[in-house]
Amino acid sequence: MAAPSICSQWSRYGSGWLRAMRGCWVPRLRSSWPAGSLGARLLSQEKRATETHFGFETVAEDEKGGKVYHVFESVAKRYDVMNDMMSLGIHRVWKDLLLREMRPLPGTQLLDVAGGTGDIAFRFLNYVQAQHQGKQKRQLRAQQNLSWEEIANKYRNEEDSLGGSRVVICDINKEMLKVGKQKATAQGHKAGLAWVLGDAEELPFDDDKFDVYTIAFGIRNVTHIDRALQEAHRVLKPGGRFLCLEFSQVNNPLLSRIYDLYSFQVIPVLGEVIAGDWKSYQYLVESIRRFPSQEEFKEMIEDAGFQKVTYESLTSGIVAIHSGFKL
Ligand SMILES: C[S@@+](CC[C@H](N)C(=O)[O-])C[C@H]1O[C@@H](n2cnc3c(N)ncnc32)[C@H](O)[C@@H]1O
Repeated sequence: MAAPSICSQWSRYGSGWLRAMRGCWVPRLRSSWPAGSLGARLLSQEKRATETHFGFETVAEDEKGGKVYHVFESVAKRYDVMNDMMSLGIHRVWKDLLLREMRPLPGTQLLDVAGGTGDIAFRFLNYVQAQHQGKQKRQLRAQQNLSWEEIANKYRNEEDSLGGSRVVICDINKEMLKVGKQKATAQGHKAGLAWVLGDAEELPFDDDKFDVYTIAFGIRNVTHIDRALQEAHRVLKPGGRFLCLEFSQVNNPLLSRIYDLYSFQVIPVLGEVIAGDWKSYQYLVESIRRFPSQEEFKEMIEDAGFQKVTYESLTSGIVAIHSGFKL
């Protein structure tokens, strides 16, 4: 049989010789070429470029965002309760440790990407407020000659209880942000925070804008992690810090087996009982398994241009905090 003309395949599949190869040359050649040959490698490279994973499922790249959106839209209202139930409250400790690692200075401008219902942002506000109040108290104590009335007035007149610090919460999902805003009101957070609907891969912010960028349990949901990392680098000021809290690779074999059992046998059931959504929580546990290891992710952060990249594994590697600087 004569080989199909490249030109006819060109018009069928559009330009790009890789596409033409997929259409006409490669299927016949593949059967006779040894595995690992150039053609096979090119084919699999192209496949990787257009397909990605959604949990254990392989999906087209342009489908993943919609699927992830649906997951968080569906779980938004029960998201916080589920976090407490699934992690037995331990996610709170991990998030506190992220703040301890950040140790924000007065005036810090934080961008919390994939900020969801605001857990990192509220911790940040509480932290900077406590720091600022502590500083004020120390200053007032030093001014021994003031009367108690003057001290009280000085306190009342202090306009910015955050010492100039601000946080922007950016998330792609408006349902998650809606729950976050309700939580902010309930917890009494009014000043110093802004909510922005936006994609981690294409942040709606100027270059060199923030002192710290955080992303907690968000980056594994992003279709192109490399693009999200490049965006993080772009919006940080020189000297700014990237901090990521994410599920990672468990380094204790016994714990790993128990953790797998718990993840696959218990979490989807909890998801069904509490949030009426087995599938979303099945995705959650699967997406954790697909995320790169501590070392691999460290390399990806370095590839995006960050320096002095380090990580700390918490709870035997169930999660890790990665840190890097834009220098
Ligand atoms: C597991 S939640 C984490 C929420 C919060 N950071 C926390 O720690 O509780 C993941 C969040 O990532 C958001 N997300 C997923 N893909 C995103 C993207 N491309 N850009 C911005 N946010 C995204 C989801 O909407 C969701 O709110």
